[in-house]
Amino acid sequence: MVEISASVLSGIERDKATKVFYNLEVANIDYFHIDVMDGKFVPNITHELMKEYATTIKQISNIPLDVHLMTYYVKDYVEQYIDLEPNIITFHIEAVKSKEEAFEIINFIKQNHSRVGIAISPSTSIEKVYEFLPYIHMVLIMTVEPGYGGQKLIPETIHKIKMMKQYIDNNNIEIDIEADGGINLDTAKLVKEAGANILVSGTAIIKSEDYKKTISGLKT
Ligand code: DX5
Ligand code: ZN
Repeated sequence: MVEISASVLSGIERDKATKVFYNLEVANIDYFHIDVMDGKFVPNITHELMKEYATTIKQISNIPLDVHLMTYYVKDYVEQYIDLEPNIITFHIEAVKSKEEAFEIINFIKQNHSRVGIAISPSTSIEKVYEFLPYIHMVLIMTVEPGYGGQKLIPETIHKIKMMKQYIDNNNIEIDIEADGGINLDTAKLVKEAGANILVSGTAIIKSEDYKKTISGLKT
């Protein structure tokens, strides 16, 4: 059974956010996906809003936080979210300058009692993260260009998920594969078949009439 991580990046009116978070919990999501953007790694800036939302969620819900950092200065942003005890913090491999820095961040996140994910953007090859996989808990394969919700899934990214699944199976690596971006009732089938076991979905859920129905549709 796949898990659903609901992105709270777009489509939520700030003054109605608490109600939306409550309804998402009731609709059986497995994670809240917190999309943190710094305006440098991607043009969009969402940190302040995402910190506000993550803090509210922490106050009203026990559903785990799945924090997705689309930022440079990764450690600084990890420090911003660690007090909310996220279940997992994911950083982009494109945001770090060396293997040593990547391992430093991995250890820093673990020392702060969170699980670790590494994300790759559509144009980054999966080989780039192979060496880190035995040391982390999740690999996030972007199925849209990072930066905005509501985009269409990039079909070529499905193959990346398939290749990643093959690699972790052939090498007996226990790790989650998260697909992120443009996931709806149609594209969910494709990424699940390819091997993703955590699906991030924002617009397809938030814009739907019945969250529970949409979420169970994404899961089956
Ligand atoms: C994009 C974010 C995604 C996005 C998902 O940079 O990482 O999590 O918000 O939202 P939808 O499902 O609308 O593509
Ligand atoms: Zn995301």
